[in-house]
Amino acid sequence: MARVRTAVLISGRGSNLQALLDAAADASFPAEIVCVISNRPGAGGLARAEAAGVAALTLDHKAYNAREAFEDALHAALTDQGAELVCLAGFMRLLTPGFVQRWQGRMINIHPSLLPSFKGVDTHQRALDAGVKLTGASVHFVSAEMDAGPVIGQGAVPVLPGDDAAALAARVLTVEHKLYPECLRQVASGQARLVDGRVVIARGAPASAMLL
Ligand code: GAR
Repeated sequence: MARVRTAVLISGRGSNLQALLDAAADASFPAEIVCVISNRPGAGGLARAEAAGVAALTLDHKAYNAREAFEDALHAALTDQGAELVCLAGFMRLLTPGFVQRWQGRMINIHPSLLPSFKGVDTHQRALDAGVKLTGASVHFVSAEMDAGPVIGQGAVPVLPGDDAAALAARVLTVEHKLYPECLRQVASGQARLVDGRVVIARGAPASAMLL
Protein backbone atom coordinates (compact mmCIF):
# COMPACT_ATOMS: atom_id res chain seq x y z
CA MET A 1 0.00 0.00 0.00
CA ALA A 2 1.23 3.53 -0.77
CA ARG A 3 2.64 5.31 2.23
CA VAL A 4 1.05 8.59 3.28
CA ARG A 5 3.14 11.57 2.17
CA THR A 6 3.87 13.47 5.37
CA ALA A 7 5.43 16.88 6.00
CA VAL A 8 6.92 17.87 9.35
CA LEU A 9 6.91 21.51 10.47
CA ILE A 10 9.57 22.57 12.97
CA SER A 11 11.03 25.66 14.61
CA GLY A 12 13.98 24.22 16.53
CA ARG A 13 16.24 21.29 17.36
CA GLY A 14 13.91 18.64 15.92
CA SER A 15 14.28 15.74 18.35
CA ASN A 16 10.65 14.73 17.71
CA LEU A 17 11.30 15.08 13.98
CA GLN A 18 14.19 12.64 14.46
CA ALA A 19 11.88 10.13 16.15
CA LEU A 20 9.49 10.40 13.18
CA LEU A 21 12.33 10.09 10.63
CA ASP A 22 13.65 7.01 12.45
CA ALA A 23 10.21 5.36 12.50
CA ALA A 24 9.61 6.19 8.83
CA ALA A 25 12.99 4.74 7.84
CA ASP A 26 11.24 1.37 8.09
CA ALA A 27 9.51 0.80 4.74
CA SER A 28 6.57 -0.88 6.50
CA PHE A 29 5.76 2.31 8.45
CA PRO A 30 2.58 3.76 6.89
CA ALA A 31 3.89 7.35 6.65
CA GLU A 32 6.75 8.58 4.49
CA ILE A 33 8.40 11.88 5.53
CA VAL A 34 8.66 13.82 2.27
CA CYS A 35 9.71 17.25 3.54
CA VAL A 36 10.59 19.26 6.60
CA ILE A 37 9.77 22.95 6.76
CA SER A 38 11.14 25.35 9.36
CA ASN A 39 9.86 28.87 10.00
CA ARG A 40 13.24 29.67 11.59
CA PRO A 41 16.39 29.82 9.46
CA GLY A 42 19.12 27.54 10.80
CA ALA A 43 16.82 25.41 12.97
CA GLY A 44 18.73 22.31 14.11
CA GLY A 45 16.09 19.99 12.71
CA LEU A 46 16.91 21.04 9.13
CA ALA A 47 20.26 19.25 9.34
CA ARG A 48 18.47 16.13 10.62
CA ALA A 49 16.22 16.19 7.56
CA GLU A 50 19.18 16.60 5.20
CA ALA A 51 21.02 13.75 6.91
CA ALA A 52 17.98 11.55 6.30
CA GLY A 53 17.83 12.60 2.64
CA VAL A 54 14.55 14.49 3.11
CA ALA A 55 13.84 17.88 1.49
CA ALA A 56 14.57 20.61 4.06
CA LEU A 57 12.95 23.99 3.42
CA THR A 58 12.95 27.27 5.30
CA LEU A 59 10.03 29.66 5.17
CA ASP A 60 11.00 32.52 7.44
CA HIS A 61 7.75 33.99 8.78
CA LYS A 62 9.55 37.32 9.30
CA ALA A 63 9.84 37.67 5.52
CA TYR A 64 6.04 37.99 5.23
CA ASN A 65 4.13 41.09 6.25
CA ALA A 66 0.97 39.23 7.23
CA ARG A 67 0.27 35.92 8.92
CA GLU A 68 -1.97 34.91 6.01
CA ALA A 69 0.78 35.60 3.45
CA PHE A 70 3.15 33.31 5.37
CA GLU A 71 0.49 30.62 5.57
CA ASP A 72 -0.33 30.90 1.85
CA ALA A 73 3.36 30.26 1.12
CA LEU A 74 3.37 27.37 3.60
CA HIS A 75 0.27 25.86 2.04
CA ALA A 76 1.81 26.22 -1.45
CA ALA A 77 5.04 24.52 -0.29
CA LEU A 78 3.08 21.66 1.28
CA THR A 79 1.02 21.23 -1.87
CA ASP A 80 4.16 21.36 -4.07
CA GLN A 81 5.63 18.52 -2.03
CA GLY A 82 2.44 16.53 -2.38
CA ALA A 83 1.93 16.42 1.38
CA GLU A 84 -1.19 14.58 2.51
CA LEU A 85 -0.54 14.81 6.25
CA VAL A 86 1.22 17.45 8.37
CA CYS A 87 2.97 16.87 11.71
CA LEU A 88 3.81 19.87 13.88
CA ALA A 89 6.92 18.98 15.87
CA GLY A 90 7.99 21.92 18.00
CA PHE A 91 6.51 24.34 15.46
CA MET A 92 6.14 27.44 17.62
CA ARG A 93 3.95 29.55 15.37
CA LEU A 94 0.23 29.98 15.91
CA LEU A 95 -1.78 29.00 12.82
CA THR A 96 -4.90 30.89 11.76
CA PRO A 97 -8.32 29.16 11.72
CA GLY A 98 -8.25 29.43 7.91
CA PHE A 99 -5.04 27.42 7.61
CA VAL A 100 -6.20 24.91 10.24
CA GLN A 101 -9.43 24.46 8.30
CA ARG A 102 -7.52 23.64 5.11
CA TRP A 103 -5.72 20.79 6.90
CA GLN A 104 -8.50 19.67 9.21
CA GLY A 105 -8.19 16.00 10.12
CA ARG A 106 -4.83 15.90 8.31
CA MET A 107 -2.66 17.93 10.73
CA ILE A 108 -1.45 16.70 14.13
CA ASN A 109 0.66 18.25 16.91
CA ILE A 110 2.61 17.13 19.95
CA HIS A 111 2.49 19.13 23.17
CA PRO A 112 4.51 18.34 26.31
CA SER A 113 1.64 18.09 28.81
CA LEU A 114 -1.37 15.96 29.54
CA LEU A 115 -3.88 18.14 27.70
CA PRO A 116 -6.09 19.98 28.44
CA SER A 117 -3.72 20.93 31.27
CA PHE A 118 -0.83 23.33 30.70
CA LYS A 119 -1.33 24.50 27.13
CA GLY A 120 1.16 27.02 25.73
CA VAL A 121 4.70 27.81 26.83
CA ASP A 122 6.56 27.20 30.15
CA THR A 123 4.60 23.97 30.40
CA HIS A 124 6.94 22.14 32.76
CA GLN A 125 7.45 25.02 35.19
CA ARG A 126 3.69 25.49 35.40
CA ALA A 127 3.22 21.77 36.06
CA LEU A 128 5.80 21.99 38.87
CA ASP A 129 4.16 25.13 40.29
CA ALA A 130 0.77 23.39 40.26
CA GLY A 131 2.22 20.46 42.21
CA VAL A 132 0.90 17.74 39.87
CA LYS A 133 2.35 14.26 40.42
CA LEU A 134 1.97 13.05 36.84
CA THR A 135 2.63 14.91 33.63
CA GLY A 136 3.41 13.83 30.09
CA ALA A 137 2.77 14.49 26.44
CA SER A 138 -0.24 14.55 24.13
CA VAL A 139 -0.65 14.14 20.38
CA HIS A 140 -3.82 15.71 19.00
CA PHE A 141 -5.50 16.79 15.80
CA VAL A 142 -4.93 20.51 15.37
CA SER A 143 -7.87 22.82 15.91
CA ALA A 144 -7.97 26.61 15.78
CA GLU A 145 -7.23 27.00 19.51
CA MET A 146 -3.55 26.58 20.49
CA ASP A 147 -2.57 23.13 21.86
CA ALA A 148 -6.20 22.07 21.79
CA GLY A 149 -8.08 19.69 19.57
CA PRO A 150 -9.11 16.06 19.92
CA VAL A 151 -6.47 13.89 21.60
CA ILE A 152 -5.13 10.88 19.69
CA GLY A 153 -2.73 9.57 22.32
CA GLN A 154 -1.07 10.47 25.61
CA GLY A 155 1.95 9.31 27.56
CA ALA A 156 2.44 9.96 31.27
CA VAL A 157 5.56 10.20 33.44
CA PRO A 158 5.90 10.87 37.18
CA VAL A 159 6.98 14.22 38.60
CA LEU A 160 9.74 13.33 41.06
CA PRO A 161 10.87 15.18 44.20
CA GLY A 162 13.69 17.56 43.32
CA ASP A 163 12.68 17.92 39.66
CA ASP A 164 13.29 21.24 38.01
CA ALA A 165 11.78 22.24 34.66
CA ALA A 166 14.78 20.92 32.72
CA ALA A 167 14.71 17.50 34.42
CA LEU A 168 10.98 17.21 33.87
CA ALA A 169 11.27 18.28 30.22
CA ALA A 170 13.90 15.61 29.61
CA ARG A 171 11.70 12.89 31.16
CA VAL A 172 8.67 14.01 29.15
CA LEU A 173 10.77 14.08 25.97
CA THR A 174 11.48 10.35 26.30
CA VAL A 175 7.74 9.68 26.18
CA GLU A 176 7.26 12.16 23.29
CA HIS A 177 9.73 10.21 21.16
CA LYS A 178 7.72 6.99 21.62
CA LEU A 179 4.27 8.55 21.49
CA TYR A 180 4.58 10.66 18.34
CA PRO A 181 5.62 7.84 15.97
CA GLU A 182 2.89 5.60 17.39
CA CYS A 183 0.20 8.27 16.89
CA LEU A 184 1.45 9.09 13.39
CA ARG A 185 1.31 5.37 12.60
CA GLN A 186 -2.32 5.25 13.72
CA VAL A 187 -3.35 8.34 11.75
CA ALA A 188 -1.45 7.38 8.58
CA SER A 189 -2.87 3.86 8.65
CA GLY A 190 -6.40 5.18 9.17
CA GLN A 191 -6.72 3.52 12.59
CA ALA A 192 -7.23 6.96 14.19
CA ARG A 193 -9.49 9.39 12.34
CA LEU A 194 -11.18 12.70 13.04
CA VAL A 195 -14.93 12.29 12.63
CA ASP A 196 -17.31 15.14 13.54
CA GLY A 197 -14.71 16.70 15.82
CA ARG A 198 -13.91 13.49 17.72
CA VAL A 199 -11.15 10.92 17.38
CA VAL A 200 -12.44 7.55 16.27
CA ILE A 201 -10.04 4.65 16.88
CA ALA A 202 -10.54 1.51 14.80
CA ARG A 203 -11.58 -1.64 16.62
CA GLY A 204 -8.52 -3.74 17.47
CA ALA A 205 -6.06 -0.81 17.25
CA PRO A 206 -3.47 -0.73 20.05
CA ALA A 207 -4.22 1.75 22.85
CA SER A 208 -2.23 4.95 22.41
CA ALA A 209 -1.93 5.49 26.16
CA MET A 210 1.56 5.03 27.52
CA LEU A 211 2.95 4.98 31.04
CA LEU A 212 6.71 5.30 31.37
C1 GAR B 1 8.78 19.40 22.27
O1 GAR B 1 8.87 19.18 23.65
C2 GAR B 1 7.35 19.63 21.84
O2 GAR B 1 6.43 18.83 22.55
C3 GAR B 1 7.17 21.10 22.17
O3 GAR B 1 8.37 21.69 21.73
C4 GAR B 1 9.43 20.75 21.90
C5 GAR B 1 10.19 20.65 20.59
O4 GAR B 1 11.33 19.85 20.75
N1 GAR B 1 6.01 21.66 21.53
C6 GAR B 1 5.23 22.58 22.08
O5 GAR B 1 5.45 23.08 23.17
C7 GAR B 1 4.01 22.96 21.26
N2 GAR B 1 3.15 23.83 21.99
P1 GAR B 1 12.01 19.19 19.50
O6 GAR B 1 12.30 20.31 18.51
O7 GAR B 1 13.28 18.59 20.04
O8 GAR B 1 11.07 18.17 18.95
